[in-house]
Amino acid sequence: MASTLKTYSRTKRTLLSSLPSSPPSVLASPTPTPKAKAKKAAAKPPPKAKAKTFTQLHFCIDQTILRTCALCGLSYTKGAPDDEALHKAHCARVQKGMEWGREEEKEQLAAGVVEVASGVKLKDRKKGRIICFKADVGGKIGSKLSTLLNTINLALSSPSLTPEILQASKVYLFLTPSITSTLREKIVGCVIAQQISTAVAIATPTEYSGACEPPSPPSPTTTLVGGIFCHPAPLPTPLGISRLFVSSTHRRQGVASHLLTAAAETFVLGCPLDPRKGQVAFSQPTGDGSAVMHRWGGGGVRIYEE
Ligand SMILES: CC(C)(COP(=O)(O)OP(=O)(O)OC[C@H]1O[C@@H](n2cnc3c(N)ncnc32)[C@H](O)[C@@H]1OP(=O)(O)O)[C@@H](O)C(=O)NCCC(=O)NCCS
Ligand SMILES: [Zn+2]
Repeated sequence: MASTLKTYSRTKRTLLSSLPSSPPSVLASPTPTPKAKAKKAAAKPPPKAKAKTFTQLHFCIDQTILRTCALCGLSYTKGAPDDEALHKAHCARVQKGMEWGREEEKEQLAAGVVEVASGVKLKDRKKGRIICFKADVGGKIGSKLSTLLNTINLALSSPSLTPEILQASKVYLFLTPSITSTLREKIVGCVIAQQISTAVAIATPTEYSGACEPPSPPSPTTTLVGGIFCHPAPLPTPLGISRLFVSSTHRRQGVASHLLTAAAETFVLGCPLDPRKGQVAFSQPTGDGSAVMHRWGGGGVRIYEE
């Protein structure tokens, strides 16, 4: 059952790696001059030792400067123009997706972009199409992909995919028509599908014990892979899903499921793959990713490490 499987705890990344350091605190006590000290000593009997009162002044770095956006989950420094601009751009991409425009269309033949599904109906009755191309593509499409992957990695707190992984991967994008222009489309979902060799099968709740209590070890026949109880034996598996992302305003419409189906059907030419038969694996699924993985794959999806 999905709810009993544990996933990686991912740490959200912040735009700023460090805050400006606090200036040294100041002790507020006026220091008397030597002259004044001598005068006082002559006129009066030795003063009683009097406890001096110091006042510590703090330059308090207000913690509220570091904001975590409720819409995109990113932490950034409020008031720092660069940080705010980066957050604004990231937030818009996470919510609405990036554009697929005329520039990309112009290059699509040379870049080997293939339309693998058209007129794909979503739950809100909107239609879209799915395109596919190699993940190590260059040119304008390559730089668009690189911005898209940076956004996805930042949102998932995932590392960048290595050139070797990109070379063994295909990109599947779900495009919907733009409301403002007929020449542009929106990239509302993305799957990176990678050629892999092995993955491990997920254990069913009855196959492991004590999974709900973190300190208790799993049964000897299971092992934790990416926080999920799995059978340790590596099994031949042709397709790995290394990244899966849908812009937040388009979720729960079936975009991810359609992308995964397109990837499974077309990744290996002439050989559609079946997730229910264990032919597809996910790497380090998030909570939402696990939910899709179980629903779409009917419990047959495996796990692999990138
Ligand atoms: C995970 C994600 C890709 C799902 O995309 P999506 O297009 O909304 O998924 P689908 O609409 O195809 O969902 C299919 C089914 O999966 C399950 N599911 C999807 N998201 C879920 C969620 N947040 N909570 C519970 N179940 C969920 C549901 O059963 C859903 O069917 P239903 O809507 O009829 O109930 C999207 O939420 C996302 O991008 N999240 C942030 C990034 C992320 O976590 N990626 C996963 C990395 S492994
Ligand atoms: Zn935001």
